[in-house]
Amino acid sequence: MTHQFPTKAALNQALCERITKDLESALARKGSASLLLSGGSSPKDLYRLLSLSKLDWSKIKIGLVDERYVTNDSEFSNEKLVRETLLTNEAENAPLFPMVLDAENEERNIELIEREYSVFQNADVVLLGMGDDGHTASIFPNDPQSDEAQQTLKNVLSTKAPVHPQHRITCSAQLLKSASSIYLLITGSNKFQVLESAEEKAYPIAAFKPYLNAIYFCI
Ligand code: 6PG
Repeated sequence: MTHQFPTKAALNQALCERITKDLESALARKGSASLLLSGGSSPKDLYRLLSLSKLDWSKIKIGLVDERYVTNDSEFSNEKLVRETLLTNEAENAPLFPMVLDAENEERNIELIEREYSVFQNADVVLLGMGDDGHTASIFPNDPQSDEAQQTLKNVLSTKAPVHPQHRITCSAQLLKSASSIYLLITGSNKFQVLESAEEKAYPIAAFKPYLNAIYFCI
């Protein structure tokens, strides 16, 4: 199901309402909720809007779909992005699960996050983005670790991006696909073309398309 909007503001409003409703029903059903969020530039205003939703954020676990292996004060940090956009206003005290706990030892960090991210099995909401190369999360074309991320039963892996910062951490496809609701947020006609041709071009996003509950799109 693709929802197309005339403006980014209209898209953000609709997607914010959808995610808020999903979280409300999870809280009502089981007294807790969990949410995995992508980084990048597209979702920033959505996260700012979501921070205003009147929810019991103390009971909503917030994780990252993926991360750059940098310190959390880096301009490239997705943790920093989520802290600055979502963890404000009503959502100020929501529990955030960072993906970089050991910025000195990448292997040890992955071991730590593998355990931490088991709480996001069967998450309530996952928000995916997509790059112009058809990557999603930090699952990239032409990267053997990204191919592993599509198949593994692990929760997280290190992968390699074609652009700086190259060292990435990603939730695995199985972890992301286990979620109750998976949304893809893309903007621009080019990305829509990339999505349309994903199967033919064997882009990483192709494996996720059958699992998407909705695509939120504006030109
Ligand atoms: C990241 C993101 C990544 C993002 C896409 C789209 O760490 O960069 O998680 O997967 O969703 O690259 O990014 P934009 O929204 O900035 O185009």
